[in-house]
Amino acid sequence: MAISFRPLSYALGAEVQGVDLAGPLSNSEFDQIHRTFLERGILLFRDQKISREQHIAFSRRFGELDTHDALPRDRDPDYPELLLVTNIPKANGAPSDSKYTGQLWHSDMSFTLVPSLGSLLRGIKIPPVGGDTMFTNMYMAYDTLSDGMKKMIEGLHAIHTGSRKIVDLSAERAAEQKKLNPPIAQPVVRVHPETGRKALYIGEKVSCFVDMTEAESRPLIDYLVRHATRPQFVYRHQWRPDDIVLWDNRCTMHIALGDYAEGEIRHLERTTIKGTPSGYYQQ
Ligand code: OGA
Ligand code: MN
Repeated sequence: MAISFRPLSYALGAEVQGVDLAGPLSNSEFDQIHRTFLERGILLFRDQKISREQHIAFSRRFGELDTHDALPRDRDPDYPELLLVTNIPKANGAPSDSKYTGQLWHSDMSFTLVPSLGSLLRGIKIPPVGGDTMFTNMYMAYDTLSDGMKKMIEGLHAIHTGSRKIVDLSAERAAEQKKLNPPIAQPVVRVHPETGRKALYIGEKVSCFVDMTEAESRPLIDYLVRHATRPQFVYRHQWRPDDIVLWDNRCTMHIALGDYAEGEIRHLERTTIKGTPSGYYQQ
């Protein structure tokens, strides 16, 4: 069957049809997929009954995979390339560490020196209603700023933290998190290494701008996040089991909405493609 693509929203995303990721994929098929990934920022593959090994093997075609040393509690003990995004409690009954993963607007691994190129998230167990993920186009967010604002943020660096919306994060765990992932400064405007286009690089894990106080930074962070997440820049994904969603972390942001009933199981697994080095340590 020939491969075809269907836009997911005006702003970004394409569904890839006519591809079975359990089977072989020719270089020409992969080239079409890769080109559309760069054009649309997100790809959706539906009804992919694949194994963990096949998920990892397909992800590797995009580049070297992260083994998640920055998030050791969330990776699978047998497959360090797989990050678990799950609310299934641990064997001892304790809540899952990744129950609240992604519930702030962010780009994956922005709080490290090698932020991710892209992530491939596979839906395994999905609540009957909700548990959606929203994505936004950060090229559009940048392009639609005024010339004055573009000038103001050119050369500005933002401090990214590994913070999470965990209501019950103990002081001890917060200290562990900070030690493992000290704050990293990243440019607020980044040039995408493959398309050459400028994209806004900001999010809700940003605490302040370099050489500015938190009070000075907050209004601009809030403005840029609100601007970047305007509904017309967004695609909202409603998950089905066996979905694979691939996103480009260099020109999109995403958020897990957490819009599902307590008690419903939500289990997804993610591979993370390593990007190019960016940013520097900032205390
Ligand atoms: C992620 C993430 C969002 C979700 O896996 O990187 O942010 O909806 N997940 O689970
Ligand atoms: Mn994420």
